[in-house]
Amino acid sequence: MSLHIQATPGQIAETVLIAGDPLRAKYVAEKILTDVICYNEVRGMLGFTGMYNGKRVSVQGTGMGIPSTAIYVHELIFGYGVKKIIRIGTCGGLQSDLDLGILILAEAVYTDSNTQMLYYDSMDYAPTADPELLRQAREVAEKNSVAFRQGKVFSTDIFYDETPNRWDPWIKRGVLAIEMETSILYSLAAKNNIKALSILTVSDNIITNESTSTKDREHISLQMMRLALEIA
Ligand code: HPA
Repeated sequence: MSLHIQATPGQIAETVLIAGDPLRAKYVAEKILTDVICYNEVRGMLGFTGMYNGKRVSVQGTGMGIPSTAIYVHELIFGYGVKKIIRIGTCGGLQSDLDLGILILAEAVYTDSNTQMLYYDSMDYAPTADPELLRQAREVAEKNSVAFRQGKVFSTDIFYDETPNRWDPWIKRGVLAIEMETSILYSLAAKNNIKALSILTVSDNIITNESTSTKDREHISLQMMRLALEIA
């Protein structure tokens, strides 16, 4: 048991998919995995372990944002010996040609958060995906004709920001999308020598103002879930 996860030793697999929304974790467990157990209900942050094509895999909710994600990633690594974490999340597209539903493989990530600085003794670490996981994800996506883009994303601490044109400098530099968790996942993974990758579904587009409903998000996330499970 750790403070926020009530699993007993061995109940969590070495590979864990993490989702901000605990109901997305439940969706993966109920709709895709077999032989499922629920190992966590603390704070409603559901966690499940099950089987996918002969592989044992867990899926854990983390809540939104960097500090909450850091708590779960830390406990998965230190409390349960997890070796590989794949984030399945949503993001806001920052380029006008990103259709809703397209997948983003986050190869590197910028952030406006100070959390990572705290973990790295005030040094400016550049968080990147595990190159092997990234290559595998790209290959599986190409083989299955899944629409995706690989590139940089931005993890922000502020969802509601009223600064006009806040994202312009990042759009100009070709950043594909914003979300709120990947930078801390990659930083903690590197610091603790485990593998990590963020696979994101574009749920809204900041430039075109298109967005998906909560119900649609469940549905359009399915190919992201399957891709993550294929490389788990
Ligand atoms: N901003 C931050 N995080 C997000 C967004 C957004 O527009 N969409 C999905 N995650």
